[in-house]
Amino acid sequence: MRIPLIAGNWKMYKTVAETVQFIDELKGLLAGAGDGVEVVLCPPYTALSAAAEALRGSGIFLSAQNMYWEEQGAFTGEISPLMLREIGCKYVILGHSERRQYFGETDEAVNKKAKAALKHGLIPIVCVGETLEEREAGITEKVISTQVKGALTGLDPAQTAGLVVAYEPVWAIGTGRTASDDDAQKVNAFIRGLLAEIAGREAAEKVRIQYGGSVKPENAAGLMAKPDIDGALVGGASLKPDSFAGIIKASR
Ligand code: PGA
Repeated sequence: MRIPLIAGNWKMYKTVAETVQFIDELKGLLAGAGDGVEVVLCPPYTALSAAAEALRGSGIFLSAQNMYWEEQGAFTGEISPLMLREIGCKYVILGHSERRQYFGETDEAVNKKAKAALKHGLIPIVCVGETLEEREAGITEKVISTQVKGALTGLDPAQTAGLVVAYEPVWAIGTGRTASDDDAQKVNAFIRGLLAEIAGREAAEKVRIQYGGSVKPENAAGLMAKPDIDGALVGGASLKPDSFAGIIKASR
């Protein structure tokens, strides 16, 4: 049984004060209503520490949005897996399409980061997804296959089984245009097939595969009802406690 994972990716939004206020409100709204769903918040680096404190005892977990693969060193501006573990992160998002698009992140970098995260006990949420041009050119599966295989090169089946993969079609991120339930299911099932090729069917059945891209309280239940959609990576709708709580409640 895969427990759905609902993660709020805040991107470059929210100060420390706003983070603490959000968490207080969310805790009030959920009050046990998150049962049967694992809930994760991904604030910016600067708010991780305050979020860890505010989340204590809530059952809600913490994730970073990115990290570097080295433990320490002369890498100005970077954050290491050790630092994220110390602060209390359980997860780390890797290879988000905005990282790929604006910061030149490659599949090779995602692979190095995934290995470093696992070495330090962080669970990677590996993001993959095609652009609109790629979808229209009919190469969605080819793109997804390259990204998944590139990100997971060299991982053993046990490591793969513990991962989270997020399918996020780039054309659906922040656009209000969600993939249909059936389209999302189709790609998620394709990803599970790829995982089975890489790590065996048993490992593939354990991997939680999220959908991301304009998930809202109104469309969450339909997406989550699909057999290969095991949660959501939520951007815009995770910035308000009531809409994020709505998605969580719709996903139980
Ligand atoms: P969105 O973002 O929900 O605002 O479309 C999703 C994401 O980028 O993870």
